[in-house]
Amino acid sequence: MDVSDLVGKTALVTGAGSGIGRETALAFARRAADLVVCDVSEAGLGHTADDIRALGRKATAHIVDVADAERMRTFADAVHGEVEAVDILVNNAGVGLGGGFLYTTLEDWDWIVGINLRGVVHGCHFFVPKMVARRRGGHVVNVASAAGYLASEALAAYSTTKFAVVGLSEALRDELAPHGIGVTAICPGIINTPITGSARLRGKAAAPGARDQMVAFYRRRNYGPELVAEKILKAVARNAAVAPVSPEAWTMYFLKRLSPALTARVNRWTAERFERQLAANRRP
Ligand SMILES: NC(=O)c1ccc[n+]([C@@H]2O[C@H](COP(=O)([O-])OP(=O)(O)OC[C@H]3O[C@@H](n4cnc5c(N)ncnc54)[C@H](O)[C@@H]3O)[C@@H](O)[C@H]2O)c1
Repeated sequence: MDVSDLVGKTALVTGAGSGIGRETALAFARRAADLVVCDVSEAGLGHTADDIRALGRKATAHIVDVADAERMRTFADAVHGEVEAVDILVNNAGVGLGGGFLYTTLEDWDWIVGINLRGVVHGCHFFVPKMVARRRGGHVVNVASAAGYLASEALAAYSTTKFAVVGLSEALRDELAPHGIGVTAICPGIINTPITGSARLRGKAAAPGARDQMVAFYRRRNYGPELVAEKILKAVARNAAVAPVSPEAWTMYFLKRLSPALTARVNRWTAERFERQLAANRRP
């Protein structure tokens, strides 16, 4: 899809109240698209909608929990009362959960699968059929993660949901190609957003000082969500299947293809280094 001028097109972004979703919505608005945005956070969503309108574009904002199928259905009905179908669907809303499988409760699984996986399924279920029926093509962007092709003990449940999002995206891409609808799984690496502050932490990841260390690490890495938004636009323009974002995401993407065993060793070494640093920081 040509993203240089999106006049007359509608982009829908879930989780647009913060981070990658917010910057993606603004990036589409700067290319003259009208926006439908949703989030569970009223304050964040209002801020994003105001900034879209300040760019001269239409912004329709809905408070929606993407994990709630019935709420997603009424949201989709409202959107389809305004437009026949959206042109670009960005399933971005997501949450973080750090910790190993042995420390992850079933309630944690319900929570993260509900938002990170079923949220994407709901977005596709309620919006894609109208895109198909309209017969004017479009694009679906599912925000997965580098953890969607690289699993580690530290992100057991999170990785599970993101692997599933990559799998769903690949299958959907195959199915929607004859309808002129592209599908991209976006796989960011370490992006400096508020997700580090809100993520649930379990087991070693919940050790005293671990969150502060993680937040500081993401801050030092300093790869902003606005850069992810630009890569999302590029991926839509190129109709990329899987789009790693950030140098570490690309490195691990290629390394995993080259040698899964070496990748697992690098992964383990990184986790042990993180734990050593945490222990050193705790020493008086
Ligand atoms: N930050 C990173 O390092 C990183 C890396 C890879 C992938 N991602 C993915 O990017 C996406 C965006 O994350 P972010 O880093 O911008 O985080 P963020 O916390 O800044 O933004 C996430 C937004 O989603 C909203 N949200 C959460 N649960 C929701 C729900 N049930 N329904 C609707 N909205 C909901 C939050 O209120 C928030 O506004 C997520 O899917 C995340 O997994 C982030």
